[in-house]
Amino acid sequence: MSDFKILVLISGKGSNLISLHEHADRYNISAVISNNPTAEGLLYAKKHKIPVYPFSRSDFSSMSTFKDAIYQKVLQLKPDLVVLAGFMQIIQPQFVEAFYGRMINIHPALLPKFPGLDTHTRAIAAKEPTHGCTVHFVNTGIDSGPIIAQAECALSVEDTPESAAAKVLKEEHRVYPWVVKNIATGDISLVEDKVLYSPDLRRDAALKGFKIG
Ligand code: GRF
Repeated sequence: MSDFKILVLISGKGSNLISLHEHADRYNISAVISNNPTAEGLLYAKKHKIPVYPFSRSDFSSMSTFKDAIYQKVLQLKPDLVVLAGFMQIIQPQFVEAFYGRMINIHPALLPKFPGLDTHTRAIAAKEPTHGCTVHFVNTGIDSGPIIAQAECALSVEDTPESAAAKVLKEEHRVYPWVVKNIATGDISLVEDKVLYSPDLRRDAALKGFKIG
């Protein structure tokens, strides 16, 4: 097992956590943190003996002390990479700055299109022929950090937000472990706000149908 330690932050179902775990040959999931103590993904992590740290807003007097407790736990765990996987909380600037280049997110749209919430409804309303997901480094903006990779799927007039979400999730489950693996091996890195790729990676991305910068 690799000693590259990733820390996964979740809020809900955790299907990306599951996919990351199933593909963890070049990295290991050292722990899972959730800002929602009833997140379904925590059950999966516990079942697979991954240490979990659930946080509950009701245990804290303010949003900022709640967020700070999560941040302190992240610092204590010393991950090589922080992986946001359906973590529905805006990360405070101090946390983002400390982990810039070592924290990634997956967003269910082809950024820069549709940052923020309700991406599937908005993509359908805009009659987009294609939709998909984007993995990016986290910066202090909303879904605006340097883009690492995108995976696309077709969208049709028949699609509902639910069917679009299912198609996009399928792509998320392929591209997220691929990106994490390649960060772990040093084939993807961030240098002065620019995402760099090793020469072989372009071929591999093309084979898998992923778009990289
Ligand atoms: C995914 O669509 C992800 O892109 C978004 O939230 C959803 C999380 O799904 N940020 P899951 O909890 O990994 O199943």
